[in-house]
Amino acid sequence: MSAQFPVARPRRLRRTPALRRLTAETRLSAADLVLPMFVKEGITEAQPIASMPGVVQHTRDSLRKAAHEAVEAGVGGLILFGIPAVKDAVGSGADDPDGIVQSAVRDLKSDLGDAAVVITDLCLDEFTDHGHCGIVTAAGEIDNDATLERYASVAAAQAAAGVDVVAPSGMMDGQVAAIRAALDGAGHHELPILAYSVKYASAFYGPFRDAAECAPVFGDRATHQQDPANAAESLREVLLDVAEGADMVMVKPAGPYLDVLRQVRDAVDVPVAAYQVSGEYAMIEAAARNGWLDRERAIDESLVAIRRAGADVILTYWAAEVAARL
Ligand code: PBG
Repeated sequence: MSAQFPVARPRRLRRTPALRRLTAETRLSAADLVLPMFVKEGITEAQPIASMPGVVQHTRDSLRKAAHEAVEAGVGGLILFGIPAVKDAVGSGADDPDGIVQSAVRDLKSDLGDAAVVITDLCLDEFTDHGHCGIVTAAGEIDNDATLERYASVAAAQAAAGVDVVAPSGMMDGQVAAIRAALDGAGHHELPILAYSVKYASAFYGPFRDAAECAPVFGDRATHQQDPANAAESLREVLLDVAEGADMVMVKPAGPYLDVLRQVRDAVDVPVAAYQVSGEYAMIEAAARNGWLDRERAIDESLVAIRRAGADVILTYWAAEVAARL
């Protein structure tokens, strides 16, 4: 009789919350979470972002306050996106020593010291009037190498402002090497690069483009961001970036690309970050608002899945909330 019952019973270890907690393979920790924040030049009150309920475009002052709260909650880092008051074809605001990102970095470093890592997104799309990530030729193409010169200058400006880590997100070929050379040339040998190595041309960036006011006015980003159909190409991008000097690499978006994240984690020995992007945030917030799913459980599950797939660091708009809960 008893021989017909299972000897192996995986349910034994699921029986109580204490057993489940003890045997969990993956844990989230506040220290691994990075909060993306938007700061807009020349506004006097924080502005809500319709497609990202709970996220705002900050003033310089409201940014300081929110950053302080996030750090109190225990987040490991903050990543800054700036929206300038004036845009032009070459994104002059991006490397202006008094530009919005540089000013915000000085504010945060003076408030926070080393309590959290301050990271800057390094790209031109928020700063260009055409919304593209680089220099656009007369033919309407993105000029890779002319853009690298701009990125080098932006990196030097962000470094001079005192940022802890720069994170190039423009997907130009050779951007990590160009930025490394610029940083080293300016004496910033110790400043790490978090490379957005694997960045797909994704519909899930939709809400971000409202938040950062950077939707391209013509065309799209498909000539530099990756085709969602490809995975092997991601390894090529990651290995190139590591060879060029990336100190950390990133996969973006996160949730729809967990297979890629796992492959990247297994392929390199530098820390791997994953960016849970604006659309991933908006989907859960929208469904929760409709009463279609349990908001906190869905958030936690989405994050644990990203961690399980191999992320050491997670960029998420829920970083402060989740850190406070952990
Ligand atoms: C480019 C950049 C983008 C995001 C981060 N950096 C937008 C894009 O490539 O169009 C998207 C982040 C998100 O959707 O949350 N500066």
